[in-house]
Formats: sequence, structure tokens, C-alpha cells
Amino acid sequence: MGHLLDHQRLNALFGRSLLTTHDWSAADLDTLLAVAHRLEQMDRGGISTALLPNELAYAMFFDNSTRTKSAWAGAAARLGMQPVIVDGSSTQVAHGETAEETGAMLGMNSHALGVRHDLILGEGNSFMRDVQRGIDDYLAASNDPRIVPIVNLQCDVDHPTQALADLLWLREHFGGDVAGRKITMSWSYSPSYAKPLSVPQGVVSLLTRFGAHVTLAHPQGYELLPGPMAWAAQGATESGGSFRVTHDMDDAFAGAEAVYPKSWGPHALMVERVAANKAGDGAAMRDIEQRALAHNAQHRDWICDERRMALTGRDSAGDALYLHCLPADIGAEVTPGVMDRFRVAVAKEANKKVYVIMAMLAAAKVPDLALRLADPADVADAS
Ligand code: CP
Repeated sequence: MGHLLDHQRLNALFGRSLLTTHDWSAADLDTLLAVAHRLEQMDRGGISTALLPNELAYAMFFDNSTRTKSAWAGAAARLGMQPVIVDGSSTQVAHGETAEETGAMLGMNSHALGVRHDLILGEGNSFMRDVQRGIDDYLAASNDPRIVPIVNLQCDVDHPTQALADLLWLREHFGGDVAGRKITMSWSYSPSYAKPLSVPQGVVSLLTRFGAHVTLAHPQGYELLPGPMAWAAQGATESGGSFRVTHDMDDAFAGAEAVYPKSWGPHALMVERVAANKAGDGAAMRDIEQRALAHNAQHRDWICDERRMALTGRDSAGDALYLHCLPADIGAEVTPGVMDRFRVAVAKEANKKVYVIMAMLAAAKVPDLALRLADPADVADAS
């Protein structure tokens, strides 16, 4: 792990934003996860991680959140920053302020910016890139040396802090690496709302780059976006892993060492929602949501239950790790019994996100981070 925290590797992350994991090389993602691991060690060991005192960590959420908001606040506080989280719909974005203008205004005052904008395909990630342009242009025009990284806290394409937290948790569970491990990302039934595609897209496009054998399972009609599907295929080819798609949940669970069953919305209706949202047609939006839920209801049997968990594991030992980004629809996506069995596991999975966000902010903003993270034991060994 020590070699991942050397100056050269950490300097490659300085000044970076995280808008998709695809934008980053696998080597840079490895370095970021090594920083997260080290910060977790320090935090749990009672060693101060206040690397960015007196700075403002501002975040805008255009959708609900429990875990990611608290991870942002927890990360900022542990770094000595002041976290501020606002409801995106309460900003002037709702009155037509452009993303570039918003970026410039936030870039004047803040030292890091988190954004969640995940509900409408084609909008969230491009909004974040426009905000970043607004910030960067303002800082350049005003000769302001501050680095204000953008952290994608979930968009329409990716949920990078979630997928990286999942990878950190899977590595801990497997005792090191996901290479060669059989991991299933499966659709499962939800009656609550048509959920974004970005979690499964983020998970399959990330894990395939680290040598995992990833199976994506969903009923017909729940395809993911072509971009992240191509990234997953390319990642598997380059890493020596594999990527396959099945429309049979039992097949996807058979032999899997980790399973990640969660819901997302029907592809065609998620696309239809784009035009309705652009037109500001609330009635059409409500109608699409009802049709999405009716569509979901045709697949109530896509549930993670004990019968399916028993299919998992090497030699069908039934011992796969269950993952979920949370919140889960208990009784629909997963049975109460399976969720009870993994309640602590999914909480530990969620807790990794605070360290991923800390790593992102520290790597982007702290010069000479390698020195600040040096383990006294390593220094003693080297001397
Ligand atoms: N998994 C996740 O992003 O949770 P929240 O929506 O509560 O932030």
C-alpha cells in the first residue's frame, strides 16, 4: 500500500475533480483508494486528519439523500473544513441561472463543491461539467490560486463515490483484491420510484476495470446507457476480467461471490422523461412515473431472497456478500431476512463513502499529501 502513496502518484491527483471514474486511469483510482484507506486508518486510530482547516466544502443536492449528505459533511468535518449543504432546487438554478454562472458564483467563495443531480438522463453530468467550467474560468480570470474540485455525488451517468466505496468494501471483504471474483449487479423489483441508472452503471464500469468477473442481470427493457456499458466491456478486456449480461436473476446469482441487487427505472420511460422534464410538463412526469412503476410490477419475482442467496458462492456454498447502496425497498428488492443478515455489512459499505470523499478532497487540494499521510512506522522502517 505504501508505494501507492508516493509523491509522484499523489501529485497526479492534485487539482483533479471526480466527475466519472471513467475519466480517471485505473492507476489513479488505485492511488485514490489507498489515500482513502490511509485516512480511514488515521481516523479510526485517533490521528488528526484536519488537512484543510478554515475551508468551505459546499454541496448542492437536486435530489434526496441521507448517506451521501452525511458522508460529505463527515468528510469535510474530519478534514477541518466547514461543510454547507443546500437544496439545489432552492438556488437560482431553478430560476434559469446557467450552470456556468452558478459555478462562477460558488467558485468565488467555496474551496470544494459537491453536486448531486441524478434524476434526468443527459442533464446531471453535463451540468457538473458546466459548473466546473464556470468555476475554472472565474478562478483563472481573477488570478485566484484556489483549487476548487468538483465531486460528483451522483449524476445520471455515474455515482463515483458510491462505486468507489463499494470497491473499497469489496476489497476489505475479499482481503485485498476483486480480481478474479464473480460479482453480480442485478436489477430487483421496487414499487417506490423509478430509480436512476447511475449506481449500476457506476458499479459495472468500475469493477470490470479491476479484473472482476461481472455479471449484469435485468429484465428486458431495463438496459443501461450505451456509454457505461461500453466502458464496462472495455474495462474487462483491459483488466483480464469479464463482463456479461443475462436476463435471468437465478443465472446471475449462481456461483456469485458478491451480489448487488437493486432497482432502476425502465430505459424507455427514463428517456421519455427527458422531454417531459424539459417541457416542464408535470402531468406528463407523473404519468411516466406511474407507468414506470407498473412496468416494475411485472417483475415482482426479481427479489433477493434466501433461495437465491443459496445459489451463490464457490461450489454453491451460499456465502456471497450482499451489497446495497441503500435505501433498499425491504420486501421488494430484498427479503427482510436477507437484509437482517447483512444489516451491519451494508452499513459498513455505506461508511466507506466518507473516506472516499475525504481522499478526493485531500488528494485534489493538499500539496505534499504523501508527507502528511506518512505512517510513522514506515518512516521508522526507512530510516
Ligand atoms: N447510496 C446513496 O447514495 O444514498 P443516499 O441517496 O442516501 O445519499
